[in-house]
Amino acid sequence: MMYDAEYFLRFVKIFAKYLEENREYLTQLDAAIGDGDHGINMDRGAKAALERLGTTNAGTPGAIMRTVGMALLSSVGGAAGPLYGTVFMRMSMAFRNKEKIDDKELVAGLEQALLGIKGLGKAEVGDKTMVDVWEPVVEFMKENIENGRTLPEICEDVIALAEESMKATIPLQARKGRASYLGERSIGHQDPGATSSYYFFRSLCEAIGGR
Ligand SMILES: Nc1ncnc2c1ncn2[C@@H]1O[C@H](COP(=O)(O)OP(=O)(O)OP(=O)(O)O)[C@@H](O)[C@H]1O
Ligand SMILES: [Mg+2]
Repeated sequence: MMYDAEYFLRFVKIFAKYLEENREYLTQLDAAIGDGDHGINMDRGAKAALERLGTTNAGTPGAIMRTVGMALLSSVGGAAGPLYGTVFMRMSMAFRNKEKIDDKELVAGLEQALLGIKGLGKAEVGDKTMVDVWEPVVEFMKENIENGRTLPEICEDVIALAEESMKATIPLQARKGRASYLGERSIGHQDPGATSSYYFFRSLCEAIGGR
């Protein structure tokens, strides 16, 4: 399948809708082990992104990702702003000015985004961060696409794996970010960034259906 500008606009809109609907939930998760701003941060960033997309002429997948990345970098502070900003900027760089992206190129963009997250935040799997969702999901996608399956075929599994990986952060002790200051008291809570990352992959998949 090929992913055009329309697809990426749908993806951003669906992601923004999840962040708006789950603003309080994400904020509660962050209140338990952080400073209670993740939902507010992400919703503000997504709204800024939609506003910019409405006023600029971003006509390619790369230009759309770049517009979103810039909006996140300039409107969201803390850890999540630069981390998610990097995600979209890296995807934009990977897509360059292609009109359409195929499954392999989409996964290559996501791989670059994961490298960006890890380069910036220095977190590894098991540290109770968004990396705990990103790494297994991107690896799963890469492996399956390389073996000739298509994203639409594996999307149900992608969503299930993202959800499972998000829930698997509950028993972990945080080793990065503000939650790490809590030490053992961070155990027993789901990581907010892993949760917003689950919405990210869910949105990527749901945008295929043209919802
Ligand atoms: N070094 C890191 N690497 C990857 N992800 C991180 C890192 N630090 C924090 N995160 C993610 O960011 C989320 C918190 O985002 P939030 O929007 O609340 O920003 P923040 O309040 O500045 O973050 P924090 O309180 O963790 O410094 C965490 O749940 C985690 O998933
Ligand atoms: Mg926070």
